[in-house]
Amino acid sequence: MITIKDLTKIYNPGKPNEFEALHGISLEIKDGELAAITGRSGAGKSTLLHILACIDDYQSGEYRLDATLVKNLSDRQYAHIRNEKIGMVMQDFALVEDMTALENVMIPLDFAKVKGAAKKEKALAALKAVGIEELAKKPCSKLSGGQKQRVAIARAIVNEPAMILADEPTGALDSKTSAEIMELFKKLNAQGRTVVIVTHDKEAAGRCGRIIEISDGRVVI
Ligand SMILES: Nc1ncnc2c1ncn2[C@@H]1O[C@H](COP(=O)(O)OP(=O)(O)OP(=O)(O)O)[C@@H](O)[C@H]1O
Ligand SMILES: [Mg+2]
Repeated sequence: MITIKDLTKIYNPGKPNEFEALHGISLEIKDGELAAITGRSGAGKSTLLHILACIDDYQSGEYRLDATLVKNLSDRQYAHIRNEKIGMVMQDFALVEDMTALENVMIPLDFAKVKGAAKKEKALAALKAVGIEELAKKPCSKLSGGQKQRVAIARAIVNEPAMILADEPTGALDSKTSAEIMELFKKLNAQGRTVVIVTHDKEAAGRCGRIIEISDGRVVI
């Protein structure tokens, strides 16, 4: 469960290039929701997603993830929350291109200290869950955009997080592949995971149960 109250994000606070990107956002996302965050370029979607993902901090207000107030934690505590609760899918896939699909998916397991046969087993199960186990041994540089996105999603779910966050997961894909990837997110959501997707794409947003629109650093619906 995500609870955000009056949250303000300022980039470069106190500096001449100070910029307030989020102006007192309040928002609740319940466990098991499939939500799209939409809005124009520069509205603050990625800023909000990075805060939700515990990869960026904020200035005032509150972000609670389940029972934890996510504020002023140590690097170790942030890393722990990320590892335990959050699977993040980046816009540009952020895969290691010369590593295989399987090796990419095993990366988060190193952080979680999963070892030996269990590591490979878990990574293969994640690749199977996204429908590309047969590509396990292929280097990512040889995969299509849609296949890369599936590897990135497998990597995000391999630690079995309760929440998947994705920034423009269909931004680089054609419409047919986008629809397939959205179906995959729907399936992962139907299995009980909370899924939050930032998207410009109206069709992709329409496939989600809920649309949160951000305009100029504020939630409008
Ligand atoms: N690191 C940063 N330093 C300063 N300003 C930033 C930084 N990152 C983002 N901003 C500014 O904050 C605002 C919101 O940016 P953000 O990246 O959240 O927008 P967005 O809605 O994700 O846009 P897009 O759809 O283009 O990805 C923009 O005006 C942007 O210029
Ligand atoms: Mg963005």
